[in-house]
Amino acid sequence: MKILVTGGAGYIGSITSAELIRAGHEVIVVDNLYQGHRAAVPPEAAFVEADLTDRNALREIFAAYPGIDGIMHFASYTLVGESMEKPFLYLRDNVANAANLLEAAIAAGVRRFILSSTANLFDQPERIPIDEHERIVPGSPYGESKFIIERMLHWMARIYGMRYACLRYFNACGDTPDRGEDHDPETHLIPIVLQVALGQRPHVTIFGDDYPTRDGTCVRDYIHVLDLASAHILAMEALDRLGERRYNLGNGQGFTVREVIETARKVTGHPIPAVVGPRRPGDPAVLVASSETIRAELGWQPRYPDLESIIASAWEWHRTHPNGYDD
Ligand code: UFG
Repeated sequence: MKILVTGGAGYIGSITSAELIRAGHEVIVVDNLYQGHRAAVPPEAAFVEADLTDRNALREIFAAYPGIDGIMHFASYTLVGESMEKPFLYLRDNVANAANLLEAAIAAGVRRFILSSTANLFDQPERIPIDEHERIVPGSPYGESKFIIERMLHWMARIYGMRYACLRYFNACGDTPDRGEDHDPETHLIPIVLQVALGQRPHVTIFGDDYPTRDGTCVRDYIHVLDLASAHILAMEALDRLGERRYNLGNGQGFTVREVIETARKVTGHPIPAVVGPRRPGDPAVLVASSETIRAELGWQPRYPDLESIIASAWEWHRTHPNGYDD
C-alpha cells in the first residue's frame, strides 16, 4: 500500500515508517520537524517538510502523490503536562490540524485512516485492565483533543465512508538499533532513567510514592514501539473489513516506577540514584490496558511483553546515541 505518515520523523512515526517499508509498503512522510528529526526518516521514504496548519501545502501533497491508500496520523502535540499549561496548542492546533488533514484526504479520495490516540482518555478508570467499554474521561486537554478527533473520524465515516482505527497507546517505549526516543525536553520515565545511567543527570525523581499501589509509585503499561508499529500495520491492512474501530494498546501488565528503575539498574549495571519528590499533577495511580479486542480481531501479539527486553532495547539505542540524533 502507499501510506502517508504524518509525524514520520518523530519517535513512533519514524519507527512505524521503517516497519512499513520492511513490510513492502511505500511511505510518504510529512513532518514539520518541530519535534521530529530528519535523520529519523527512513531513506527509502519520500519526505515532505510541511505543517498541517497549511491547507494549501496539504492539497499539493495529495496532488503530488496520487493514489495514497491510507494515512497514519502521528503528528501531534503529545504532552499531558504541557497541555495543562498551553491548552490551545491541543484544543485548537491538534484538532484543527486533524481537520485540515482529513479535509484534504477526503478531497483526494483517501478513505483509510489510523489515528494515534491515547490512554489519557481514561482518567478515572472503573476497571483495570481498561478495555474499550471503559467510560471516556479525558485527563487533560491533550486527551480531550484526541477524543474530539476520534469523534471527528466517526462523522467522516458516516458522511464519507472513511474507514478508520483509533489506537489508544498506553506507555510507548523501547527503541530499535537505528531509531529511538529523542525529545527535547525529555519528560518520559524510561529515557530519563537511562540518561541517569549515562551520567547526563544526577538522579531520577520519583513523582510520588504515596499512591495506593504495591510500592506506592504509579503503575503503567509499557508497550514497545515495535509492537505499536505492528498494530498500525495490521490495522491498516484490515481496515476494509473492519470499518470503524477503537483499540486499547498495551501489554496488559503494569509496572511501578520503582520496578522500572530497578529493571534499568539490572540492564545497565548502573546504580541509578532515585529521589522521591511530590506527585506530578494529573497522574492517575494505575493505567493498564486490556488489548483483548485487537488480539482477537487482528491476531496482534506483543513481541516484547517483558520490561527487561524493552529497557534493554532502549539502553542499546541511548548508549550508542548518547546525544540522540545529530540534527
Ligand atoms: N515519572 C517519574 N519521574 C519522571 C518521569 C515520570 O516518576 O521523571 C513517572 C510518572 O509520574 C508516571 C510514570 O513515571 O507515573 C510514567 O510517566 P511518563 O511521563 O513516562 O508517561 P505518562 O504515563 O505520563 O504518559 C504517557 C504518554 C502520554 C499519554 C499517557 C497516557 O507519554 O502521551 O501516557 O496516560 F497520554
